[in-house]
Amino acid sequence: MAVFDKEANSYDEWYKTKMGSYVDEVETRCVFDLFKVKEGMKILDIGCGTGNFSIKLAKMGCEVVAIDISNEMLKVAKSKAKKENLDIEFHNMNVYDLKFEDEYFDGVLSITAFEFVNNPKRAMIEIFRVLKPSGKLIIGVINKDSKWGEMYLSKKFQDDSVFKYADLKKAGDLKGLKENNLVDTRECLFIPPYTDEKNISLDKELELSKEERGGFICALWEK
Ligand SMILES: C[S@@+](CC[C@H](N)C(=O)[O-])C[C@H]1O[C@@H](n2cnc3c(N)ncnc32)[C@H](O)[C@@H]1O
Repeated sequence: MAVFDKEANSYDEWYKTKMGSYVDEVETRCVFDLFKVKEGMKILDIGCGTGNFSIKLAKMGCEVVAIDISNEMLKVAKSKAKKENLDIEFHNMNVYDLKFEDEYFDGVLSITAFEFVNNPKRAMIEIFRVLKPSGKLIIGVINKDSKWGEMYLSKKFQDDSVFKYADLKKAGDLKGLKENNLVDTRECLFIPPYTDEKNISLDKELELSKEERGGFICALWEK
């Protein structure tokens, strides 16, 4: 049984909270500020979970193939895509063993999944194999070196959550995955976890960006 199977039915609940929807908003903006997609592009979403980014990509007109190793997360993702009448191809597949031919995708995206990939260099080799020349890869993760990272490394999360299986990364770890192909990086989510709801705002995000490290980091590579 995959680690995330037990999370599937509650995973999206957090995004309905004030903090959850705020996190989604700033992370989405950060990702698509860096990863420019156009209609018709063939994009692979790795560790798609309940399909949140697969759905955003499909709504932007991309041809989306989404993979995950959790059947239960995939079930939720499929049902959401069906409800929205979106034609997304979902597969149970591991990032280490992609069943696609070489140079198949225009772009690859993976959001908050590499925390759970403990041999990221091996995964990068496989991802670069399926990317077309000049194709782009974006990986976004929780920043180990931030208050969000501290929270997920705290006893509470290490004892009783999927984060006991995580291998969190710092910005340097992410950049170092394929330095020669690195194009750019971004960070966001400067508001720390446990912030009172009334203090969650984009103004506060901007203010804290001058003093805090972002809780979410992403990097873009080009093949
Ligand atoms: C925190 S969820 C993120 C889901 C989604 N990308 C999002 O942003 O909401 C991480 C997902 O990565 C998947 N995952 C973990 N290791 C994987 C691997 N080796 N190959 C493919 N998916 C994997 C998990 O099953 C889980 O659904």
